[in-house]
Amino acid sequence: MNHKVSPSLLSADFKNLQTDIEMINRSEADWLHLDIMDGVFVPNISFGFPILEVAKTTCLKPLDVHLMIVQPEKFISRFKEYNIHTLSIHYEACIHLHRVVEEIKEAGMNASVTLNPHSPVHLLEDIIQELDMVLIMSVNPGFGGQQFITHSLEKVAELKEMILKKNLSTLIEVDGGVNMETGKQLLDAGADVLVAGSYVFKSPDPMKTIHQLKTL
Ligand code: DX5
Ligand code: ZN
Repeated sequence: MNHKVSPSLLSADFKNLQTDIEMINRSEADWLHLDIMDGVFVPNISFGFPILEVAKTTCLKPLDVHLMIVQPEKFISRFKEYNIHTLSIHYEACIHLHRVVEEIKEAGMNASVTLNPHSPVHLLEDIIQELDMVLIMSVNPGFGGQQFITHSLEKVAELKEMILKKNLSTLIEVDGGVNMETGKQLLDAGADVLVAGSYVFKSPDPMKTIHQLKTL
């Protein structure tokens, strides 16, 4: 019950963004997850700085920003302007990952590295000690509402083992296809933060759904 829930704004109603963010403020959500896509790293374009500005001024919860963009190092100083709590960059998008992680931390944000479904956990063996969080993708990034890839459970368990073995306090966040069933399995495997987009925002009572995810 100590886990965090981070609803993904991607599935919110963008005609009524303020209403949805105010619902998040009243809910038991710990963070707000924001998915930034560039149409190059992933086959979709979502939103960028203007929506981050809305989140910065409207959301009372810490911002959990997931970058699905190439060359994220180009924008670290821009992201710094939006009171971001944790900035996740993709392992697959960074040649000099260690340098970019350091830049994120120097800019005052928590640093997180995301692994696509095909990227094994052991790739993080020599960077994990620098990270505040690892984000395990349990779908291929780019779209909400996809089916959970069950192999992610093994990856979470393996990552947890690595973190405990090294005596670290790195959080494990999981993103994609999270619902009550997969959420429970992920927590049992060692996840600390559950991202949920469509399961929250497409439900009849999103606040209640967040509560249910919190009480898993
Ligand atoms: C997908 C995004 C997710 C997405 C999750 O690329 O990273 O955050 O919003 O959506 P659901 O929870 O519907 O799978
Ligand atoms: Zn995401």
